[in-house]
Amino acid sequence: MRVLAIGDVVGQAGCEFLRAKLPRLKAEYKADLVIVNGENSAEGNGILPHSAKMIYDCGADVITTGNHGLRRREINEVMDRGEGLLRPANYHPSAHGQGWYIHDAMSWKACVINLQGSVYLDTYENPFACVDRILAQVETPVILVDLHGEATSEKEAMGYYLDGRVSAVFGTHTHVQTADEQILPNGTAYISDIGMCGPFYSVLGVDPELAIRRLSTNLPTRFENAQGPCALGGVMIDIDEKTGRAREIIRIQAR
Ligand SMILES: [Fe+2]
Ligand SMILES: [Fe+2]
Repeated sequence: MRVLAIGDVVGQAGCEFLRAKLPRLKAEYKADLVIVNGENSAEGNGILPHSAKMIYDCGADVITTGNHGLRRREINEVMDRGEGLLRPANYHPSAHGQGWYIHDAMSWKACVINLQGSVYLDTYENPFACVDRILAQVETPVILVDLHGEATSEKEAMGYYLDGRVSAVFGTHTHVQTADEQILPNGTAYISDIGMCGPFYSVLGVDPELAIRRLSTNLPTRFENAQGPCALGGVMIDIDEKTGRAREIIRIQAR
C-alpha cells in the first residue's frame, strides 16, 4: 500500500494549493492513504473546522497537527469526534482530541501516530515513552509516525528508536524539506522533515518583511502569511501491508 504524507498546510493559500495539487498527486502515486499536517491551515494559524474540512475535501484521510493544533478553540469539538483529526499524543490527558488513529481500509489497517518533539517545544510526556505506550496497544503492522519537532537530532534518534517497529517516521514543523529520505536498516522509512504546503517566497509561510522585522528588532510583530506562488512538500511511502516494512520513500516537491 502507498501513503502520501504532505507537510504543514499554511493558510487559505496553502489549502487552495493543496486542492490544486493533491488529487493529481494521489492519482500519480496511486496513494491508498493520505496524511496531511494541518496545524497552520487556518488564517492566523492553528486549524479551524472549515480549514480541516477543506483538507479532507482535497482528499486527506487523516490530518495531523502539532504545537499549533489546539490554538483555536473552535476546533476542539472536531478533535473530540475521533475521526482522524489528531493532535500530538504526548499532550496532557486533559487535552481535547486524540494522538493516534486507526484508518481501516478493510483489506488493511494503518495506524497514524502524531507526536511532538520535546527539544525546544513544550510537551507533557516524553515522545519516546509515549510512542512505546501506544505501540503496546497497536495490532496492525502498518504504522506511520508524524514527529512534529524542531531538532533533527531528536527526529533521527526517533527514526532509529522505531526502526523495524513502525513503517515510517516523518518529521514536520520546520516547514523546510530535508533531503535525507531513506529506508533505515530494519525497514522503516525515514525523513527529518517533509516540508510545507504554502507560500514559496516566505519564511516558513510568513511574509519575509514581517519575519525580518521581528528578528532584527525583537519587537512584537503580528505575522501574516506571504502572498505569491505556493509550493507543496511531502513524501510517498510504499509499504508492504503484511509486514509493515517500507519498500520505498520518494520525496515530493510540487511548485
Ligand atoms: Fe507548522
Ligand atoms: Fe509546528
